[in-house]
Amino acid sequence: MYWTNRHVLVCTSQHCQQKGAADVVGLLRLQIVRQKLDTEILVNTCGTIDLCDIGPNMVIYPDNIVYGNVKRGDLPEIIEHLKGGPVVERLLVGPDSPAELSRREVFVAALARGNPLPSSEFEAIASERGFDGAWVAEQQRRGFIARKPGADDSGETITVTKKTRDRYRVAVSS
Ligand code: FES
Repeated sequence: MYWTNRHVLVCTSQHCQQKGAADVVGLLRLQIVRQKLDTEILVNTCGTIDLCDIGPNMVIYPDNIVYGNVKRGDLPEIIEHLKGGPVVERLLVGPDSPAELSRREVFVAALARGNPLPSSEFEAIASERGFDGAWVAEQQRRGFIARKPGADDSGETITVTKKTRDRYRVAVSS
């Protein structure tokens, strides 16, 4: 253990793992050692940070920033940042990052119409904002929406979950 300048936490929980987090953290550690940066930068793994749909994710302190959808090929730029260079803007995730605001728009629009909504209505809201069926399916797998058969054969519904309402800071309209 050294008293390092930066601490990197790479999520290796299930969803990030499925998208290559082990490779990312393995290569990051290797590069940190090869570049003799291990007395300045500490790399640890961590459990989920609840951004499972956009992983692999890493949190960097003391910067207090999150990089999302990190690939092995992003590591040279990230290491430059860790050495004191510029933040890698295109990987930044935060409540006001453009991609996060786009996703938020979908959920705000859906919640404004009701919760639950007919699945087709939710899918149309997503599609109007550029998100396809694969994205909707990903939201379901990661627990941001739940599909249920409608009552009395009235068709399937989608409920926006509390996890989503908390992440995007949106309330259910009454
Ligand atoms: S599994 Fe990594 S953020 Fe959830």
